Amino acid sequence: MHISVIGCGYLGAVHAACMASLGHEVIGLDMDESKTVQLNSGVPPFYEPDFAGLLAEQVGEGRLEFTTDPGRITQAQIHFIAVGTPQLAGRYAADLSYLRAAVRTLVEVADTAQGPAVIAGKSTVPVGTAQHIQQVCDDSGKDLIVVWNPEFLREGFAVADTLHPDRIVYGLPDDLHRAEVGRRFLDDCYAGLLAAGTPRLLTNHPTAELVKVAANSFLATKISFINAMAQLCDATGGDVTQLAEAIGYDDRIGKKFLRAGVGFGGGCLPKDIRAFMARAGELGVDEALTFLREVDAINLRQRDKAVEMASKLLGGRFVGHKVAVLGAAFKPDSDDLRDSPALEVAQQIWSRGADLVITDPAAADALRSKRPNLNVVDTVAEAVAGADAVLLLTEWQEYRDLDPLELRALVRTPNIVDGRNVLDPQRWQDAGWTYRGMGRHGGPAAAEQRV
Ligand code: UGA
Repeated sequence: MHISVIGCGYLGAVHAACMASLGHEVIGLDMDESKTVQLNSGVPPFYEPDFAGLLAEQVGEGRLEFTTDPGRITQAQIHFIAVGTPQLAGRYAADLSYLRAAVRTLVEVADTAQGPAVIAGKSTVPVGTAQHIQQVCDDSGKDLIVVWNPEFLREGFAVADTLHPDRIVYGLPDDLHRAEVGRRFLDDCYAGLLAAGTPRLLTNHPTAELVKVAANSFLATKISFINAMAQLCDATGGDVTQLAEAIGYDDRIGKKFLRAGVGFGGGCLPKDIRAFMARAGELGVDEALTFLREVDAINLRQRDKAVEMASKLLGGRFVGHKVAVLGAAFKPDSDDLRDSPALEVAQQIWSRGADLVITDPAAADALRSKRPNLNVVDTVAEAVAGADAVLLLTEWQEYRDLDPLELRALVRTPNIVDGRNVLDPQRWQDAGWTYRGMGRHGGPAAAEQRV
């Protein structure tokens, strides 16, 4: 099929390359020329495992191209919209300006003289948006059918999640003929994935839009639930990692997304729960989502807790102390710094006067341009040299694998805050470190001491 993808960020660029790998002819459209030039040279503008190879391969084979010229996408049968819908400055609601611009472009350039084309929305939007876009298309007189087709990919697993999704959702228009045409177009597009047995759910527009924000709200709630339990563990001497494991054996609860720590960040979970609350308010059902306010608050408190933990280890003063932060991205296998808990903790500690050094295996360059105030170094050894406290805030594998004895030889004072609860407390304590986890006083040995 001939496909266009509008918006070539983490979501759009990966989607475009994956669609090309399914055998389609794909053009990615983005307003940022430097990004399209880089993508056309087969080099990803962001860090995403498995993406570089796929991109180079598909560009090389001529099935995938990126452009800033909307005139190039006129003949596409499906136009995927994958633009960002970030949080509006100073408000909870989502900024839909990129989405509106994409729809304006499509209405202007899409050629439907020979038959209908489908607009497949992948961006996360407030419920009601798809119906509104359908109305705009209808008013334009173009034969454009809007299908909401939410994306559930995770950064770090973007290619695998796109090519092997848990499920595919089509939010179809109410008009039965249009719904049938829309379904057929997307079935043809995803034929390979459907043949592999991926569940496909057919819904109306609002359900599909809600599925996406409901999924992210549930995930955020799970994380804040376990972080609330971490606070209880801190107050009582319990260990939240053992608690999570024990409750996770119950299939109804499950073990995933119960990792306590400095909390969730990134370009999706935080802004999605806020936009969902804002939309519920507009719809007059804000009470239904007031719990998300608490989910957000618990999450943000975890960042403060990590700062306080470090402060206590340093006798209540950051001034005059060297603090090493390991990790800046909002999660491992990503260079995304948006709403990153690690970066915010680092920034707070820096503001309180510490001699702060930060490192990250993938995000160091982005960090240097985004936060020129911070002292960014390339290696763990440079970061921890002479440190009075080390904070592990993004659980990159290379940080999980650190040898406490080797690291002990490099620091001035062996204090470690394990902001992601990924280190073995006993091992670090045995190597002479004062260990602090989030909701984790150090396991049975520490509990015995308290008794
Ligand atoms: C999230 C969803 O997981 C995807 O399904 C969704 O498609 C995507 O948002 C989106 O809306 O586009 P992503 O933001 O890439 O994906 O990252 P996650 O893996 O969900 O992690 C989010 C944050 O939660 C990270 O900061 C991570 O460190 C944190 N987290 C995750 C925890 O603190 N504890 C956990 O147990 C799990």
